[in-house]
Amino acid sequence: MSDEQDNTLTRRNFLTGAAALMAATGAAFSAYPFIRAMSPTKDLLAAGVQEFDISTLKLGELKTVIWRKQPVFILKRTPQMIEEAAEVKTSDLVDPAAPEERAANPELFVSLGICTHLGCIPKFVEKMPESGTSGFYCPCHGGKYDNLGRRLGGPPPENLHLVPYRLAGKDRLIIGTAEFGGYGENVRKIKDLPPVEA
Ligand code: FES
Repeated sequence: MSDEQDNTLTRRNFLTGAAALMAATGAAFSAYPFIRAMSPTKDLLAAGVQEFDISTLKLGELKTVIWRKQPVFILKRTPQMIEEAAEVKTSDLVDPAAPEERAANPELFVSLGICTHLGCIPKFVEKMPESGTSGFYCPCHGGKYDNLGRRLGGPPPENLHLVPYRLAGKDRLIIGTAEFGGYGENVRKIKDLPPVEA
């Protein structure tokens, strides 16, 4: 092959490669807004903020969702449940907290679903052994909490931990913030929770 033919081939290869690269770059840029539009919650998820639909949650029902790989309880409290918790004497509790310190809205209780003893997942029961009132019972070692997650008996040293949340309308619950670490943060009162801005 002559030098001239060789140069022509090299120039052609370069031009073909450059055209392919420009086409690929153009495609990537034009797809970017589309990809962004398809995943609007990606940034929020990375920040630990998640939205949950609670429109089908019935009165007296408990829904367990997964937030930051941890179970979170969402309980829609009945008037009877609210009354039962109101009858618990706050000063008798090992980890004292009044009802308004445990639920921003009396009809809704939201907490981590992790026992503060050794980390089992308590069950929601309508009638707790002995007291007969509703609450969370941890079968692992017999831990008992009322329906606001306040420790009533057994080995748990403290109340169920709360998580930051806010209601968006009546059907959507937004849980999480960019900063909050969840379990282990020792947050057990509404006023100690960081605000949810999303
Ligand atoms: S882990 Fe719940 S009582 Fe022990």
